[in-house]
Amino acid sequence: MNIIEVESYEEMSEKASELFIQKVRNNPNAKLGLATGSTPLGTYKRMIADYKKNGTSYKNVTTVNLDEYVGLSKKHPSSYRYYMNERFYHHLNLKQENAHVPDGTALDLTIECERYESLIDQLGGLDIQLLGIGQNGHIGFNEPGTSFDSLTHVVELTENTREVNGRFFQNREEVPTKAITMGIASILKSKRIVLLISGKEKSQALHRLLNEDVTENFPASALKKHPNFTLIYDKEAWKGV
Ligand code: F6R
Repeated sequence: MNIIEVESYEEMSEKASELFIQKVRNNPNAKLGLATGSTPLGTYKRMIADYKKNGTSYKNVTTVNLDEYVGLSKKHPSSYRYYMNERFYHHLNLKQENAHVPDGTALDLTIECERYESLIDQLGGLDIQLLGIGQNGHIGFNEPGTSFDSLTHVVELTENTREVNGRFFQNREEVPTKAITMGIASILKSKRIVLLISGKEKSQALHRLLNEDVTENFPASALKKHPNFTLIYDKEAWKGV
């Protein structure tokens, strides 16, 4: 595990964006694993700024997102596809057909999960995966207790996760009860993993990750088994104040 401590959210985003931009410059066909939520926003802003200023091209890049809510179409403003369109895809020369998010409206969710996992395999695994973390240690929507062998699957969201994610919806009742997520084993297929932890709300998760053993009760601990895992956290997350 490679650990980078930085002063602030801004510095964390700077470091993460450098890693992703470098990957794309070195490999124009790079396969990027991406996440939604608040944490990666600064990283995406910097990647877009670099594209506009330096012309780093995403023409042949493929992106694969971690997860999507079941039942939300790509037009729903709280869907993860919509989030990615607004905050990333539409600002770069990335081809829509190369930008992948699970389809939460698929009629057969089991088939959709299998399709998504095959996609990852056909791509030969992702080159670099960006991750945020839940307060309970979830990665993607893999909640505590998820098997480390899990592939892309449908999950029932915990009340806590629905509560926390309610901020992205008009009201709490609107938050779906299910999602499709890459599993822990799917995430570990990536050649490199970068986990970002910022802010005091994530302090307990950070310290658990650093101090506790690898256990399915704390999903992010699986990352410690990965040979190329980089953790970037800021001082607020460390101090918890
Ligand atoms: C997002 C995802 C989630 C988030 C996590 C942290 O695609 O899979 O695991 O990374 O819930 O969310 P934020 O960054 O909003 O604190």
